[in-house]
Amino acid sequence: MPEPVALVDADLQLRPWRSEDLPALLANANQAEVVRGLSSRFPHPYTAEDGRAFLAGEVVPLDRWALAICRDGQACGGISITCGSGERCGTASLGYWLGPAHWNQGLMGRVLALYVPWVMGDAGLHRLLAEVMVHNPASARVLLRHGFIEEGAARWAIRKDGVLYDLRRFAWLAGPSAAAPA
Ligand SMILES: CC(C)(COP(=O)(O)OP(=O)(O)OC[C@H]1O[C@@H](n2cnc3c(N)ncnc32)[C@H](O)[C@@H]1OP(=O)(O)O)[C@@H](O)C(=O)NCCC(=O)NCCS
Repeated sequence: MPEPVALVDADLQLRPWRSEDLPALLANANQAEVVRGLSSRFPHPYTAEDGRAFLAGEVVPLDRWALAICRDGQACGGISITCGSGERCGTASLGYWLGPAHWNQGLMGRVLALYVPWVMGDAGLHRLLAEVMVHNPASARVLLRHGFIEEGAARWAIRKDGVLYDLRRFAWLAGPSAAAPA
């Protein structure tokens, strides 16, 4: 059985979700601003039932790489990967979010600096993809600042609330081709 994950940088800790995280999860997730850039699997309003189902692993697999982002011990967001299979084995896509009270303080940049090098090695990845809706410049910026390279846009890839959006695609490649942070 592998050791439970705990990645730590001062007040920041990435660790597996726990059932006791429910109140902190609800406080941070039940915010209209959070869902604007996320898949509709992330509901709004975000109810206690949604939170319980998530923490029970019924929404997305709470595998080894699905971690709560904690600040001073309190969960305030999440980060995870979805791994490819078959000929896409060794690739994954990245998802992350924070409660709005924690935005624009450099926190997600610190999270990526901890999580990405670790998950590339731990999950045996050669490519990590992040897709960002065009109206989410903060997410694009944090990826570019932390070594992801923009590859282009998938046009009209998403229909959300009846509107078609392009998805900007960013990737981190393992090894010498990984970019230096901007
Ligand atoms: C995207 C998100 C994770 C960013 O987290 P964060 O902790 O605020 O990110 P950071 O503070 O590390 O970096 C944000 C960067 O974007 C910049 N930024 C913020 N708002 C911006 C805007 N409207 N336009 C351009 N840049 C912006 C910040 O200045 C910062 O850049 P800098 O480091 O060069 O100053 C957070 O906003 C979030 O959780 N949003 C909701 C969920 C979501 O959209 N997830 C991503 C899906 S792809």
